[in-house]
Amino acid sequence: MSRAVCPGSFDPIHNGHIDVISRATRLFDEVIVAVSTNHAKTYRFDDEERMTLCRESLSQLPAVTVLPLGSGLLAEFCREQGATALVKGLRSGLDFDYELPMATMNRQLADIETVFLPTTAEFSHVSSTLLKEVASFGGDVEPFVPPAVFRRLG
Ligand code: PNS
Repeated sequence: MSRAVCPGSFDPIHNGHIDVISRATRLFDEVIVAVSTNHAKTYRFDDEERMTLCRESLSQLPAVTVLPLGSGLLAEFCREQGATALVKGLRSGLDFDYELPMATMNRQLADIETVFLPTTAEFSHVSSTLLKEVASFGGDVEPFVPPAVFRRLG
């Protein structure tokens, strides 16, 4: 049974995340979506809301479980969950530059491999930060988020 973790703050989850998570279920038997809490960050949605929005938005994917990553080390979480890999989406070289040191560190810490999936082109410009900004100015974010998120953000 292969198990991977897709970690993130998911503040909120958007269609680019869902695309990567759904593609991860074709590579692994089980995919755990791990919702992080970083005390240095200010979130638009609190921990409970981010988890609920992930669960509602991923309910059509039976291989996916949504769990709190909490504020601990990701490598330790993977070890506890029996996961051998992380899956991350890459929108650009900037993402790669940010992700590569973490991938190397996670492999060194707990022998966890990181699998990078190139983001589908239609989501290559989508980020939670940008969507929150567009929505705050009244822009239409419906094409980029699942219905549960649109109801909260739109
Ligand atoms: O959506 P984000 O904020 O880019 O997610 C970043 C995340 C959760 C993947 C990263 O912050 C993380 O791994 N946090 C857990 C703490 C940790 O393990 N840090 C060391 C990474 S090598």
